[in-house]
Amino acid sequence: MKKRIFSGAQPTGRLHLGNYLGALRNWVTLQDEYEAFYCIVNLHAITLPQDPKTLRQKTLDLARIYLAAGVDPERSTIFIQSDVPEHAELTWVLLCAARMGELERMTQFKDKSQKGGRERSSVGLFTYPALMAADILLYQTDLVPVGQDQKQHLELTRDLAERFNRDFGETFVIPEPYIPKTGANIRSLQDPAKKMSKSDENEAGAIFLDDDADAIAKKIKRAVTDSGTEINFDETRPSIHNLLTIYQLVTGKSEQECVENFAGKGYGQFKGELADAVIEYLRPFQEQIASIDDDALHAFVKRGAEKARSIASATLSDVFSKVGMS
Ligand code: TYM
Repeated sequence: MKKRIFSGAQPTGRLHLGNYLGALRNWVTLQDEYEAFYCIVNLHAITLPQDPKTLRQKTLDLARIYLAAGVDPERSTIFIQSDVPEHAELTWVLLCAARMGELERMTQFKDKSQKGGRERSSVGLFTYPALMAADILLYQTDLVPVGQDQKQHLELTRDLAERFNRDFGETFVIPEPYIPKTGANIRSLQDPAKKMSKSDENEAGAIFLDDDADAIAKKIKRAVTDSGTEINFDETRPSIHNLLTIYQLVTGKSEQECVENFAGKGYGQFKGELADAVIEYLRPFQEQIASIDDDALHAFVKRGAEKARSIASATLSDVFSKVGMS
């Protein structure tokens, strides 16, 4: 029997190259070897205010993005989180196993609550990691491909699963994170101290998956660089390191080939070649996006939810029975 993977993304903002290189492209590779579940996590999305009409549209658009990136609905299960009520139900049980202190340590909550202030943050934003743990544990997931920013949530998921297993008997598979060595932590083009993010107010910091060639070229041209002239993977020069990492991932070249390719060349030439490479890399995806119609998407996510539910409901009924619900 194949091992299982589970991952997901939120249908908020615009997906960017960081999401693609850190997560999506690995989902596509891993679906050959694993039984894959890829979820559109719309329940997570409402931890921050959303316009209902936009959320509905973005939810379907994200399914389209999964398909255009190469997730194959014949092999992988694509579904919408709110179509499987077991996610919310298991969350409750896990929240009763989680500790305040554990959730208070989550850096993503600290970051996301900073803007509006902690007092004004939704309780959903605070309990967000328990919903993420429920997503993963419902499917008895072996492996979770994510970017670096989700590592702490994965550790919490493992802790909750281990605690539940200890208190109530073997119930959950303990999931392993799959965080790629390269690409798990793509930085903002405007400020390498920040990750490339959907919610960055400075749109010049992110290359969005729906940016046209012109926008991509402009953003790369305007990307900040470090002092010095050499183009290499020097960790102390985070801007060039980030740009070269992107170049490496979109061209499939080795580190050494990348460095050799730009030996003796200036930033201007490097940025030109990088822009061309990113545009070429995203082209098939962008062409594909336009060809997927809504009816097909509705059919895929409906079928996906049925398959997901058949597994999720078995796990939930085991959990309910173990904690003493009839
Ligand atoms: P989300 O929607 O913020 O991001 C989707 C995926 O993209 C990765 N990512 C990045 N990778 C590299 N560089 C970046 N700058 C970058 N920014 C984002 C994220 O790590 C993620 O893998 N909580 C999750 C969604 C989720 C989930 C789950 C994931 C909910 N339940 C269960 C895995 C398993 C999130 O908000 O991802």
